[in-house]
Amino acid sequence: MAISLTGVVDSLPVIQPQPVPAPTRSPRVDLSVSVGALSLKNPVLAASGTFGYGVEFAELVDLNRLGGIVVKGLSREPMEGAAPPRMCDTASGIVNAIGLQNIGVRAFVTEKLPLLRRYNTRVIANVFGACEDDYIEVIGVLERSEGVDGYELNVSCPNVDKGGLEFGTDPGSLQVLVKSARAQTRRPLWVKLAPTVGFIGVMAKAAEGGGADALTIANTYPALCIDVHNRKSRLGGTTGGLSGAAIKPITVRLVYEACRAVSIPVVGLGGIETPEDALEYIQSGASAVEVGTAHFIDPRASERLVEGLKKWCEANNINQLSELRGSLTAFSGLQAQARN
Ligand SMILES: Cc1cc2nc3c(=O)[nH]c(=O)nc-3n(C[C@H](O)[C@H](O)[C@H](O)COP(=O)(O)O)c2cc1C
Repeated sequence: MAISLTGVVDSLPVIQPQPVPAPTRSPRVDLSVSVGALSLKNPVLAASGTFGYGVEFAELVDLNRLGGIVVKGLSREPMEGAAPPRMCDTASGIVNAIGLQNIGVRAFVTEKLPLLRRYNTRVIANVFGACEDDYIEVIGVLERSEGVDGYELNVSCPNVDKGGLEFGTDPGSLQVLVKSARAQTRRPLWVKLAPTVGFIGVMAKAAEGGGADALTIANTYPALCIDVHNRKSRLGGTTGGLSGAAIKPITVRLVYEACRAVSIPVVGLGGIETPEDALEYIQSGASAVEVGTAHFIDPRASERLVEGLKKWCEANNINQLSELRGSLTAFSGLQAQARN
């Protein structure tokens, strides 16, 4: 039987020309986050010790685009730091022994803070000391100054004999220190934990019990690099702290564990360079992230990360970045079995 193609074509409905739709604009991505009571325009802060006092970077980086800047650790008196060399490369990261060199809290208040507070970004003062009184005095000086949005207590520096690490490894001492600091200020108080502790949850709970508003996880990992030709350490301070790409998976797990142990927010850092690195921390529960070692490769690393996160959200139809926090999903039983 012959098939009439003409008949088939004739029976098709007549298609009316449609108006061309206006191009849809992707909705604005909201990168803003909160770390407890502190709101940030985006989740990216520059990490302490890798971005000076912020102002030194102002010619290279648009500081107004950062969620915040955590300034170089501040002590009661200026400190000269460790003998050179102070940094060396490893296969995937760096080891540093800066020895907490800094200009001291009073010089920071008179020389750096007036410049820094001109920028529209959060300023977090990283504070350390050899004993409780040191921490309290540094906070006391900063309390009398405008322009500090919060404190980050460093209880975890592995590069000096008395860098507060004893507070960072003993939950009882940590809780006492945080309580004393809490009594000095109503500003947000973050506690930066050491990564090399038996159970991060125990230290996290101690800081929370002392009244911390948030935790920063984590500092560098104690390390030693040897020049086998002269049988000497490659660092003047002998041992140092490992940072960069190598520490990311270990620290992401610490953030994940800490977020399950406490109800205060966590700021994650360690080896962050790309939007995906930052998102690993956020999906494991972090409210915000800090960028450290990446600044030594590119001083604009944190500014680029803000742009990268925005583009990632646009490409993945995420309107509100904060929705991704803690969104890590467990493997199903079958997948878990397959891995074993
Ligand atoms: C050169 C250098 C100096 C640092 N100085 C400080 C400091 O003064 N206070 C502090 O809490 N952490 C300090 N840190 C630790 C970083 O803030 C950060 O916790 C660590 O490097 C891990 O992040 P990253 O892998 O992104 O660098 C320093 C790190 C480096 C590499």
